[in-house]
Amino acid sequence: MALDFRSVRYGGDYNPEHWPVEKLDEDVELMRQAGVNLVSVGIFGWATAEPTPGAFDFSFYRTVLDRLHAGGIGVCLATMTASPPPWLSHRHPEMLPQRIDGVTLSPGARQQYCPSCPVFRDAVGSLVEALAAELGDHPAVQLWHLHNEYGCHLKGCWCDVSAAAFRTWLQRRYGSIQELNRAWTTTFWSQGYSDFAEILPPRVAPTFPNNAQQLDFARFSSDELQDLMRVEVDILRRVTPNVPLTTNFAAVTPSLDLWKWAPDLDVVSFDNYPDPADPSSFRIAAMDYDIVRSLRPDRPWLLMEQAPSAVNWRTRNAPKPAGKMRTSSWQAVAHGSDSVMFFQWRASPGGAEKFHSAMVGHTGPDSRVFREITALGSELAAHQEPTGLRTRCDTALLLDWDSWWAGELDSHPTGDLKLRDQMLDWHTALGASAVPTDAVHPGGDLSRFRLLIAPSLYLITQRSADNLADWVAAGGTLVLSYFSGVADERDRIHPGGAPGPLRDLVGATVQEWWPLQPGEQVRVSLDGLPDNNNGADGARTSTAADPAAAAGGYAAEVFSEDLVLRGAEVIGRYVDGGLAGGPAVLRNRVGNGTVYYLSCRLDPAGTRAVLDAARTDAGVRPLLSWLPDGVEAVRRGDGADALLFVINHTSEPVAVALPEPMSDLLTDASGPTDTVRLNGYGVAMLPMPN
Ligand code: GLA
Repeated sequence: MALDFRSVRYGGDYNPEHWPVEKLDEDVELMRQAGVNLVSVGIFGWATAEPTPGAFDFSFYRTVLDRLHAGGIGVCLATMTASPPPWLSHRHPEMLPQRIDGVTLSPGARQQYCPSCPVFRDAVGSLVEALAAELGDHPAVQLWHLHNEYGCHLKGCWCDVSAAAFRTWLQRRYGSIQELNRAWTTTFWSQGYSDFAEILPPRVAPTFPNNAQQLDFARFSSDELQDLMRVEVDILRRVTPNVPLTTNFAAVTPSLDLWKWAPDLDVVSFDNYPDPADPSSFRIAAMDYDIVRSLRPDRPWLLMEQAPSAVNWRTRNAPKPAGKMRTSSWQAVAHGSDSVMFFQWRASPGGAEKFHSAMVGHTGPDSRVFREITALGSELAAHQEPTGLRTRCDTALLLDWDSWWAGELDSHPTGDLKLRDQMLDWHTALGASAVPTDAVHPGGDLSRFRLLIAPSLYLITQRSADNLADWVAAGGTLVLSYFSGVADERDRIHPGGAPGPLRDLVGATVQEWWPLQPGEQVRVSLDGLPDNNNGADGARTSTAADPAAAAGGYAAEVFSEDLVLRGAEVIGRYVDGGLAGGPAVLRNRVGNGTVYYLSCRLDPAGTRAVLDAARTDAGVRPLLSWLPDGVEAVRRGDGADALLFVINHTSEPVAVALPEPMSDLLTDASGPTDTVRLNGYGVAMLPMPN
């Protein structure tokens, strides 16, 4: 039976290869106790299923699937390709990946393959073909789990086979060597090519390699891994057309262009490991979940992995205190997941992950973690209200992987500019203001949004710039930050300098970048910011409430810019530092819309103050007018079905005022209340009045 979206999936990675087969019955019994209804099987099963070349034997997995099915537990069946068996690289050492510095990575861990290697692709194809034929129609199978975390350990390969594939990719992109030379600005440092055969991946060179070559190699590496996935997709679509496909994305990082990957899948799934020792890590999870949900806004996504408690791979691995695992699980559901899944079901007795927590730990089911797992399983089963609900927001973060890759290349004004930090600044400010947020590509359909936030849109095509300009002219409010509109898709500086084709939107140009030194801060006043404190929505804004405003400005770090005004209104100025007295934050009215521009990285209070002003201009209403620190408000669903989640990520009790009386479905408290009271790590799920 294929996956439906009518119930929350609960379970995790199940690696029964680690245990004697007799353990199966006990596992199934414990899974039933815990309310598990879906497990991912066989993720690292290649060496078990094909112990010697071509000798496929799936009988162990058939037994596993039979037992699970008999126990009423569905299977997300892995294609087993994430860790090739030693015999493959022993016979074909050319399949091993090569790092940028020429070092060949050895077998002995996982993901040791060159994504372009024909031998590896053939081996993947044979395995997946045999597996699909043998087990694809097993009644337990609900979903295919392609590979595991493409791009996680292996972001690309710089070997000679990859070099040849890169040349083919470039030929397709540019058509002629002359066009490539133009795109890569190869007149610089005498890099002109006379033939595609001369081109190599950007390996370690005496100094900075060609930036455009690096950007194209990042695009190629994402595409090449996606092509590798398509070897599996093509086979499975043919052999098992009725079984949906997913692959678990490891993270939102400058590795894979997830906008391009998501359409290949029937459902997006994601693995997430916020650090329990970091009290603000729920903000990272919230941002990643909103981005992941936006990859396929037409359907829910699946949380494929999280840790039941501690992981094993940080320098110090804190466990999750009692209650926190439940909170994080509901957080994923609130942000659109139709599953709560873990790595992994039973702790491994040996190997590199033996210290990773599991749903059933080394001490067995008589443990705090298993009791919490069981309690959550029955709670989720009793509360199917969120399942299937889609969420659409009127605010979004703009995200473009081309810009991310290009913006963080070497030989830039500063090496300290990290897009993810900036995205998190803004998403945190949005979260603290209880503003639900999507993500969208700057070239995508923007018509639904009122407010767009664009942290450092370094690379912008004319097409995306026109798209943004049309949207602003039609009434949108855009917040754009420093180092934006710098380069085009070939990483060539836009004529006339930054912000290039966004100049009319910003109403200013950047005449010089003034990056700040590590630890250096300058002050920025926001005196021109309207005091929206008594705005129509009644939400509290920062300017009046924040003592920083009174104390002579907000702190800015990492970056600043020397701006020349071309029509924008100055709402913030540098108070000190080399640009003292100069414009720092601008507002520009364009058509029916408004653009805010920040030339520096403002501290959280300053970021929030600008956001509140922009939000008020945009007419974006927050879910709640005030939230205590560490508390999140999330909407799942739209209209009549919408649910408001209030999630306390702290260990202390909190009280949160609601705009009108609502009833919490999770605590079954008696009747509606206008104040939600939550214990430490408490969660409330409240149907929103229309
Ligand atoms: C990743 C992998 C899993 C496991 C976990 C450990 O998400 O997909 O196989 O290694 O990390 O945290």
